[in-house]
Amino acid sequence: MNATDSRLVDLVRPYRLRVAAAIGCAALAAAGMGGYAFLAGPALRALVQGDSLDVGPMLSKLLPAGAVAALSSGILGSLPFLLVAAGLVKAAASAGFNVLLPGAVAEAAADLRKLVFARLLRADPGFFQTHPTGDLVSRFTGDIAAAEGAAGEVAVTLVRDLSQAVALVVVCAIIDVRLMVAAVVVVPGTLVPVRRFGERLRRIGKEQHEAQGEVARRAEQAITGHRIVQAYGGEAHEGRRFAAASERLLGVMRRSLLVRGAFTPFMEILGVVGLAAAIAWAGRAVVSGELPPEAVVSFAAAALMLYQPLKALGNLGQQLAQLRAAVGRAFELLDAPDAVHDAPDAIELPSPSEVRLEGVSVRYGERDVLRDVSLVFRAGETVALVGESGAGKSTIAGLLLRFVEPSAGRVSFDGVDLRRGTLRSLRSHVGYVPQDTIVFADTVRANLSCGAPVSDEAMRLAATEANAHLWIDRLPGGLDGELAQGGGNLSGGERQRLGIARALARQARVLVLDEATSALDAENDALLQEAFSRAMAGDRIGIVISHRLASVRGVDRVVVLEQGRVVEEGTPDELLRAGGRFARLWELQAAA
Ligand SMILES: Nc1ncnc2c1ncn2[C@@H]1O[C@H](COP(=O)(O)OP(=O)(O)O)[C@@H](O)[C@H]1O
Ligand SMILES: [Mg+2]
Repeated sequence: MNATDSRLVDLVRPYRLRVAAAIGCAALAAAGMGGYAFLAGPALRALVQGDSLDVGPMLSKLLPAGAVAALSSGILGSLPFLLVAAGLVKAAASAGFNVLLPGAVAEAAADLRKLVFARLLRADPGFFQTHPTGDLVSRFTGDIAAAEGAAGEVAVTLVRDLSQAVALVVVCAIIDVRLMVAAVVVVPGTLVPVRRFGERLRRIGKEQHEAQGEVARRAEQAITGHRIVQAYGGEAHEGRRFAAASERLLGVMRRSLLVRGAFTPFMEILGVVGLAAAIAWAGRAVVSGELPPEAVVSFAAAALMLYQPLKALGNLGQQLAQLRAAVGRAFELLDAPDAVHDAPDAIELPSPSEVRLEGVSVRYGERDVLRDVSLVFRAGETVALVGESGAGKSTIAGLLLRFVEPSAGRVSFDGVDLRRGTLRSLRSHVGYVPQDTIVFADTVRANLSCGAPVSDEAMRLAATEANAHLWIDRLPGGLDGELAQGGGNLSGGERQRLGIARALARQARVLVLDEATSALDAENDALLQEAFSRAMAGDRIGIVISHRLASVRGVDRVVVLEQGRVVEEGTPDELLRAGGRFARLWELQAAA
């Protein structure tokens, strides 16, 4: 039992009663199965000899004569009654098992899914940068489903097949202990070659898959490249390469047929030899009167029925390995680094009239991406952060939302260190508009509020300020209109104005626009510029991040960043006159 296993057990613990009931059902069903095997001999004897319709004679060696006589006369020893009883018990218990155990596994998987999802929602933004979205999504859906499937198989094998095996071995032991010992040695022995064959077939299957892929690739290349093949006379060459791939596939197929063809006769010979050995041995016991013949039949039935559960138990190791791998990958997601969390005594942060960075550095691994940055943003002021890509502009936006934490220095709202406040209160004061507006497959209303309680009035106002009402009003359903995931039914400008409206609907004091205008054409830009200027009006703290200087011409103050440092600060006019970095960048962009 390793760490993964014990976490797995923790997941199942809430459903332990159900699992216990399932184990009970499995035991009953296995007892019913053992009953079938036990009754097979007496049933055959009754049909062939027609002397007694009860189990008495079979038990004559095991029970005192009085008990045998009682069984023979009463209904409890009657074969038809016992068969029906075994059948009813097995059917009812199997039904219970089939509902209870997979149900418990499904519940545990649903819990895991919820846990992982909740964790992903809280994960460190850095985690998402290092894990591609597609990878996370396929892990989230694929690994948990794989874990659920493997857990179901392991649970069924462990509970059902193990109880069946135990019940059948017990039946064998009741009939004859020495025979049972022989069977327990011989039956699993036959599983070894079966598994060897299975592994061989799997390997060949993989090779076959590869060879087929190679044939398809060759054909595809020659077909798509037919102009070059023909123009350069490459037909013979391509033909040879295709023939080689095709020959390899044929070789794999030949081996596959041989292995498959040999398997059935091999098993048959194994079976016949086993049967002959059993007849030689058990037959002698019957002839000498040591064993009643029906006991041998019952024994053979039990031994044959033992084959399937033993085979399943033989695969348990592999199933367990699959389960551990899948669930381990799901747990890895569960262990995604937690984003910043609230201090135990966190307070509600005020809506700031001043945001201050004091000697802030941000470090990723060995590298400082911000170095000793001190800045003040005041209410009623719009500040542009400019600088080349990688200068650290978005990192400053991240600091204001606590997506990143300073490695030195502090960020404060009206003098209160952000780390002392709750994340919820902090983020309620910040409207954040990234470069690409995320659109959820939901209503416009839900896209604007993101689940926060925002009145329709505030939403309409925000939409109008952001010039988003122009398209929202056209949408069937207005605020209740449905948007497609990714905003497929919106233009780039419409998406961007939705993003601004979303930020405004919060009625947040601080507004951060991170490259929100970068990807737009001139026409959209006009509507957006208007939305901007309105958004930045009043006593908001506006922060505009852009590498397009034309769009920051009208701001109150410009901060130029270079390699994580503030290198210039002033009004646009001051900086243009000063002829420093801003002025140089301006000239470069004007010329372009
Ligand atoms: N999670 C991260 N891990 C490591 N490096 C990062 C991470 N996020 C950003 N960086 C690096 O920090 C530097 C500044 O990034 P950023 O603030 O996004 O720059 P800008 O927005 O000015 O283009 C870049 O060199 C970037 O590669
Ligand atoms: Mg950026």
